[in-house]
Amino acid sequence: MSVPSREPAVIAGMFDAIARRYDTLNHLLSAGLDRRWRARAVASLGLTGRERLLDMCTGTADLAIAAVTDRHRAKDVVGIDFSSEMLTIARQKVRAAGLESRIRLARGDATAMPLPEASFDAATVGFGIRNVVDPLAACREFHRVLRPGGTLAVLEFGSPTAPGLRQAYAWYFQHVLPRIGRLVSKHDAAYSYLPASVNAFPSGAAFARILQQAGFHDVQFRRLTFGIVYLYLARR
Ligand SMILES: C[S@@+](CC[C@H](N)C(=O)[O-])C[C@H]1O[C@@H](n2cnc3c(N)ncnc32)[C@H](O)[C@@H]1O
Repeated sequence: MSVPSREPAVIAGMFDAIARRYDTLNHLLSAGLDRRWRARAVASLGLTGRERLLDMCTGTADLAIAAVTDRHRAKDVVGIDFSSEMLTIARQKVRAAGLESRIRLARGDATAMPLPEASFDAATVGFGIRNVVDPLAACREFHRVLRPGGTLAVLEFGSPTAPGLRQAYAWYFQHVLPRIGRLVSKHDAAYSYLPASVNAFPSGAAFARILQQAGFHDVQFRRLTFGIVYLYLARR
């Protein structure tokens, strides 16, 4: 399967087009596990209620909302995304949840974050980094905007390693998921792009090395749900 363009305008346009169906498809295609993966990412940060958190590639703000409402939560969140339609949905959800004073949303690119240096205690990016044309540049930006000692949590898809499960998941991911995605989102390419972009992403130790290259230390990763998702943690 070819890897489609990761040109920022193409990716942003694709997310603009699927924004209204994005949450439904997320919950449907992951059988509701996506909420649990985000909760694990937030819990891994050891938040105390005093932190300022950046949620990059915030999309429809599910991770940003979890970060101010979960048991261990941040004081406030800045959510950034380059898709204006995803941000429109995010704003509606933040308003409906009465969280406007705690979550600020803005348009911006992960490789040139419109943020001052050392201005965040913690940062997250959920299912966004594989879309970024230059992940190292984005990791350098996370390093720049986090204060020394601050923590970054990255959630991204991977592939299960257990024999049997690996094949079954690959079949679901390559054949079933794109069909359901196409049917519900009415977008031809977005849900074929998903498996292609996951296959092209340097997951596990390879992404951990990118984080180290960007200057992070104490880089760790763990597999969630048999390796369908990886959670990376890194200290500035
Ligand atoms: C798969 S969605 C994930 C949204 C959300 N974080 C979640 O957990 O559901 C990926 C998001 O990353 C955004 N994105 C991709 N590349 C980006 C970039 N270079 N800068 C800013 N946002 C980006 C897309 O617009 C999209 O909203």
